[in-house]
Amino acid sequence: MGSEAPLEQELEALLEEARKGFSEASSALGLEELRTKYLGRHGALSGYFPRLKEPGLAPEEKARLGRKLNQVKEELETLLARRRSSLASTAAPVSSGEDLTLPGTPPAVGRLHPLTQTIGEIIRIFRLLGFSVVEGPEVETERYNFEALNIPVEHPSRENFDTFYLETPKPFLLRSHTSPVQIRFMETHKPPFQIVVPGRVFRPDAVDASHSFQFHQVEGLCVAPGVTFGDLKGVLTAWAQGMFGEMSRLRFRPHFFPFTEPSAEADLSCTLCQAKGCRVCGGKGWLEILGCGMVHPAVFRAVGYPKQTVGFAFGMGVERIAMLKHGVEDIRLFFENDLRFLQQFP
Ligand code: PHE
Repeated sequence: MGSEAPLEQELEALLEEARKGFSEASSALGLEELRTKYLGRHGALSGYFPRLKEPGLAPEEKARLGRKLNQVKEELETLLARRRSSLASTAAPVSSGEDLTLPGTPPAVGRLHPLTQTIGEIIRIFRLLGFSVVEGPEVETERYNFEALNIPVEHPSRENFDTFYLETPKPFLLRSHTSPVQIRFMETHKPPFQIVVPGRVFRPDAVDASHSFQFHQVEGLCVAPGVTFGDLKGVLTAWAQGMFGEMSRLRFRPHFFPFTEPSAEADLSCTLCQAKGCRVCGGKGWLEILGCGMVHPAVFRAVGYPKQTVGFAFGMGVERIAMLKHGVEDIRLFFENDLRFLQQFP
């Protein structure tokens, strides 16, 4: 007794050799090679396990050998894990000569375009008022952009919606307002509903500080039994106060649109001077921001709704609202992609 069997001495030697190897390994790759060598499926240690099954091995010897094998295996695994984590923590390229204490280069962070932000704010408030958001195509047909909206082919009001036509066999065009989405939605849905429709529209206007050939609108449509012009005023006033502050007021002026009757234009009390008159509002105190009215019966007829249907609609210009909200004086800034401008809207 006392002296260990040769097999156990062999294992001790193996452990010693592996311990040395692990501590000298200088890379994760080198360490992995050593792992395979000692602990792998065909590694040094695995060769000993079949010996446990050899005939003629006394049961107590077998038990001792088994214990020893497991002990060596565990120790090797512990040593390996320890070396692996110490290699990982010193793996930084300290020898590259770089000064790792210098501040890093922050990655450029993107942001939403001011018009996207404004649309988001407009529809956020309408959502609170119970509206859902719907979208429609930018390429339209005459039927959706005009006819179904009670704008006949030869009617002079078409001039107010001057239009880009596309050179295709059918009369396709770039929508000149978001109102065609009213028709598309009503064709596929039954009242009651209340929707807002943000989107880009196009008109062949000469570009200047307040005009662009492309701009954005948010359309609104509410169709439900008993809805009145009073509801229209209430909804738009609540929206204006959410958008521009509780002091804001709206003023409704009679107007004409072919698809609403009666129709109105709404002016917002100047956000700068509270309707007293200043540079922003040109001394007038009020700023025109939207068109609206009760949906014309001809429009309901075009989508096959029953005669007694009632509803209101409105359409507002997003650029105008963004300019008011942020004091931007030239609409072209929104489309020039100048980062010095865009980065001012965090
Ligand atoms: N579509 C109109 C325009 O672009 C705005 C509007 C929408 C007016 C809905 C009344 C009702 O000028």
